[in-house]
Amino acid sequence: MLRKFPEDFMFGTATSPFQVEMGKSRDSISPESDWYQWSHNDDIIKKTYVSGDFPDNGPDFWNNYREFIEYCIEMGNNSIRIGIDWARIFKKSTEKVNAIIKKNENGDIYQMDFSENFIAQMDSIADLGAVEHYKKIMEYIKLKKLKIVLTAYHWPLPLWLHDAVKCNEDISKCNKKGWVDRSTVGEFGKYIYYIWYKFNNYVDVWHTINEPNIIAINGYLYGNLEGFPPGLSDYQLTVEVMRNLAYAHNIAYKIIKRNDKHAYVGISMAMPYFEPELDTEENNFIVNYVKYIFYGLQLNSSLYGNFDNSLSGIFNESRPEEFAGTDFIGIDYYSRITVRYINNDNIDIRYRFAFLPCKKCSDNYWDIYPEGIRFVSTEIFNQYRKPLIILENGIADSKGILRKDFIEKHLIELHRTIKDGHIPVKGYFHWSLMDNYEWARGYKDKFGLYTLKDEKFEKTEASEFYSTVCHNNGVEDKDYRDY
Ligand code: BGC
Repeated sequence: MLRKFPEDFMFGTATSPFQVEMGKSRDSISPESDWYQWSHNDDIIKKTYVSGDFPDNGPDFWNNYREFIEYCIEMGNNSIRIGIDWARIFKKSTEKVNAIIKKNENGDIYQMDFSENFIAQMDSIADLGAVEHYKKIMEYIKLKKLKIVLTAYHWPLPLWLHDAVKCNEDISKCNKKGWVDRSTVGEFGKYIYYIWYKFNNYVDVWHTINEPNIIAINGYLYGNLEGFPPGLSDYQLTVEVMRNLAYAHNIAYKIIKRNDKHAYVGISMAMPYFEPELDTEENNFIVNYVKYIFYGLQLNSSLYGNFDNSLSGIFNESRPEEFAGTDFIGIDYYSRITVRYINNDNIDIRYRFAFLPCKKCSDNYWDIYPEGIRFVSTEIFNQYRKPLIILENGIADSKGILRKDFIEKHLIELHRTIKDGHIPVKGYFHWSLMDNYEWARGYKDKFGLYTLKDEKFEKTEASEFYSTVCHNNGVEDKDYRDY
């Protein structure tokens, strides 16, 4: 029997500008960002932070958007998640453009206003050709009657804000420190107001920041593990970056809502399902701590202004009066992580855990675990009481043998979440529409519903399956009875 999703449920796919826009045509290349510089730097490649693959060899969504949007239509999607590349629009610094800024005594920016000639000043700096081109893409999507979820920021920062290679060498000596600097929040606010002004007619859902927890953890805690700029490993910097990203979401939320109180605006987090290896007190304790570090802290700071500057597990600073919250929480769910408690009192509590290898593995060794999408959604809703959107869910599966089953099982679990658990999940966006540039890992990992074969994108068994789901607004499950 068909497990039917709610009438207005959004079914779509997700991509990000840096991962899909660039390709064969010269005008698609957007070279003025930290990630671009980072992925091309010989030293960074030699030190194996990144694969040596270049985003320049991507799907060229910039020029081929019609073809890709056709695939979405073919699949019966009613929505699509795309993004804007900040560094493509603002190759040059906006630092000299004035905004009316309110800061607290620490220098955190929590309120911004803009004068009447603000947009004209920003226009004189922006790449207006790029703005027009984004409009063309969005107009085309609207013509095809898809809802647009627009991600304002999905990781690359303009070079004038972040010199990741220098910061990697010595963070104390680099003068463009990206999200470590509080002033980056102010530049983000200007960018947000600008893109709101230019694109608000087309946008159905505003997604402010993609996974701030991953920006902070992969870039500032994991060192060389995930290869993210600036590749550092420092708890204090991680906390500062989380703090600034919390203020960045907050400022974006306030700016958009003040200009349109009906806008639907939210943030997303990467949320694996963390499972204790054993059901013991210590194991459960450490799992809760890992969840807190991984996403709880960032969500609490982004939504309520609760900070924990020492990562002790206790919020020691709370500024709810500066924070406006969110309309929804975007969940990016891919996998389960089984956590082992390391029983050693000599180790700082913050390091007393190990992540165990995957049991059912994808190509990049993420543990395939469909029930996790239900567990995570349920827990997050019960804790924060905000509607949810699955903004990413997918699998690295270069042979294309696991993806169909992956989607089917995750959607059955998602349906149970909504139907049996009464959890308000508003949409599902599969990562990703097509194979694309997988950040530090390059093109090795393939997440696409449409896959690259002999220089052409082709549909797959999984895209055909997803197409049936979207056309039926439901997933078939022979064991299901709707009493
Ligand atoms: C990111 C995507 C990425 C995906 C798979 C997510 O955390 O938002 O950009 O491609 O993971 O690695």
